[in-house]
Amino acid sequence: MGSIFDKFKIDGKVIVITGGAGLIGRRHTEAVLEGGGIPVLLDIFKEPLDKVKEQFLKDYPESTIETFVTDITKKEKLEEIKEVLLEKYGHIDGLINNAANNPKMEGGAKNMGAIQFHNLPLDIWNEDMAVGLTGAFLCAQVFGTVMEKQGKGVVINVASDYGIISPDQRIYRKEGVKEEDQIIKPISYSVVKHGMIGMTKYLATYWAKKGVRVNTLCPASLENGQDPEFIEKISNLIPMGRMSKPEEYPATVLYMLSEASSYMTGATVLLDGGRTIW
Ligand SMILES: NC(=O)c1ccc[n+]([C@@H]2O[C@H](COP(=O)([O-])OP(=O)(O)OC[C@H]3O[C@@H](n4cnc5c(N)ncnc54)[C@H](O)[C@@H]3O)[C@@H](O)[C@H]2O)c1
Repeated sequence: MGSIFDKFKIDGKVIVITGGAGLIGRRHTEAVLEGGGIPVLLDIFKEPLDKVKEQFLKDYPESTIETFVTDITKKEKLEEIKEVLLEKYGHIDGLINNAANNPKMEGGAKNMGAIQFHNLPLDIWNEDMAVGLTGAFLCAQVFGTVMEKQGKGVVINVASDYGIISPDQRIYRKEGVKEEDQIIKPISYSVVKHGMIGMTKYLATYWAKKGVRVNTLCPASLENGQDPEFIEKISNLIPMGRMSKPEEYPATVLYMLSEASSYMTGATVLLDGGRTIW
């Protein structure tokens, strides 16, 4: 009998990670490298992709990392990447649907205007759906179908605690700011994240007997240099009393990607310090 730890090995497995250059995408990359796999990072921006690759090649000099500058909402681009990977490796073993428009709210959401529900522009709604849901659907269609043909594969759909609960908009409020200028987490984020859990359940049953397992990972409230006032407000909503740390993700991701979780499909795995049970 092999060691239990052997089940966590994903040696030579080709794992596609969307939004791979982002904050959590980098932690997924680390998980794949730690398990001995080959991460394939897809992102729209070249510079951060190159930087992430360079950094990880320093930390894991023996490894192979593939990067593709691509927009996951374009099916033909995904088909091209699929062909390149199949030509080179002959198999695609996993997909982490991680990319999403993730407006950083804390500190006044500098990347958003004062957008509330009543004036959320249709363009933003459409873009959020396109990246978060359509992109995930297309990646599952293109890469998941390869796994179905192989009779083996794993998909992780990244949702959020906001795929389970509604945002508590009070934590984003700023003292002394007029009501109409307050920033709120957009409805599109909630809809995308709830949708990811639905996509997981659909695909988990659709592929259940085809060897492809599909699960949802719900990260929550990652600490990333937010202002202390925000950290205190959000921490008060979390039973463990603190935000999550980047290093708390890779082990769970590797578990979900590997044979260690061979009987798990359709599950929602929460890394939220208990926030959704309060
Ligand atoms: N950071 C958190 O606290 C947190 C909490 C809960 C859930 N999440 C979820 O985790 C995932 C990653 O979040 P993050 O904080 O790392 O976000 P991030 O913004 O740092 O990373 C997202 C990445 O996706 C890329 N991307 C955007 N549109 C794309 C497209 N059309 N094609 C290809 N790539 C595209 C971006 O360039 C970026 O690198 C998201 O699904 C997010 O909703 C994050």
